Amino acid sequence: MRDVAIIGVHVTKCGEIWNKSFRDLFVEAGLGAIKDAGVDHIDSMYIGCMSGGLFVGQEHIGALMADYLGQAPVPATRVESACASGGVALRTGMLDVASGHSDIVLVGGVEKMTDIGGDEATYALATAADQEWEGFNGVTFPGLYAMMAVAHMHRYGTTPQQLASVAVKNHDNGSLNPVAQFPMKITIDAVLNSVLVADPLHILDCSPVTDGAAAAILVPADRVGKLGKKQGVKIIGSGHATDTIALHSRKDLCALEAVSKSAAIAYAMAGKKPTDMDVCEVHDCFTIAEIMAMEALGFFEKGKAGRAVEAGDTRIGGKIPINTSGGLKSKGHPVGASGVSQAVEIVEQLRGESGARQVKGAKVGMTQNMGGTGASSVVHIMEAM
Ligand code: COA
Repeated sequence: MRDVAIIGVHVTKCGEIWNKSFRDLFVEAGLGAIKDAGVDHIDSMYIGCMSGGLFVGQEHIGALMADYLGQAPVPATRVESACASGGVALRTGMLDVASGHSDIVLVGGVEKMTDIGGDEATYALATAADQEWEGFNGVTFPGLYAMMAVAHMHRYGTTPQQLASVAVKNHDNGSLNPVAQFPMKITIDAVLNSVLVADPLHILDCSPVTDGAAAAILVPADRVGKLGKKQGVKIIGSGHATDTIALHSRKDLCALEAVSKSAAIAYAMAGKKPTDMDVCEVHDCFTIAEIMAMEALGFFEKGKAGRAVEAGDTRIGGKIPINTSGGLKSKGHPVGASGVSQAVEIVEQLRGESGARQVKGAKVGMTQNMGGTGASSVVHIMEAM
């Protein structure tokens, strides 16, 4: 298997993007990544998209995007793993290059979620849960993560203030990111006094409904500098795992087993440990998700991540900066694109291009992207070349 590097990235503005269609968003991201990389062609494409059918009535997304990007007849494959679709697309593209089958692969992610009403978007998102046991009984994603939050608070003493600290930190970071959907700074009191969505999660504990797209260009690591113009960022670890889709089947409501397993695979492949990471993007679809993901990734002991966030350990300049982009909470969560947009942030951090969000001297970074309540998880570890 060949080593693989990312040499080009781009992410669109995230938010309620009225003047661009589903395909426009993807094409903007794809062309941006091609230009950034300086490649003159691509050999294949993988596109993360959770639910083109329910959000915009569009399936057959591989062919559509190859066509509108002007790349037909290259092979183009849509990848779906709910909110982990982008991360799994990245892994699939990496395997294509690693296998020797393709030399230049475009990995993208796209979702246009705001063209339908809030109730329809909630339904579309809930299809990532177990329909027979959860969706049918009316549970939504805020409701599922609220149950996990209650269990975590009960067992470990995690507090609403600690949950709110995650949102405050991510909005602080997002305020420095020009593509963020909600770049405003917020306070703990603002979170705690915002409307309750599913107790104990307030609206400011939730990621929003978002339009957006992201893309990256992957090449063999030993051909960086020959196939394109940009500095490479090597993917040194990749892990992917699954867990029960329904929460009631989990052994432990306070643990994200698929995150731990996918991280263990990625750490072993990279020959790294949690303390080797300089910067990390984790899947903060709700504030409790960031806390549980950080514990599963081994950054903090079980039950201690809430206190660490409160102490500032996860801020830029702290022990392990988490979600320097603003995360899904502030930057936005265009579900099928989020895993790729996390990779964009880490590549820019490792190239030293993150401006006011730059983590000084960052050399090794990680992305963690999950589907549903953690029924699928994919972790990548990257290193500056
Ligand atoms: N963070 C900050 N502000 C938000 C927000 C969020 N997550 N969601 C909405 N807002 C703001 C809107 O901009 C709007 O502000 P305005 O009145 O100044 O224009 C206001 O809050 C109401 O927005 P609206 O779109 O009507 O909210 P809603 O009640 O329909 O939706 C949620 C709010 C939290 C239910 C929705 O964002 C949601 O479902 N989030 C979770 C998405 C999800 O589950 N993703 C998958 C995870 S696995």
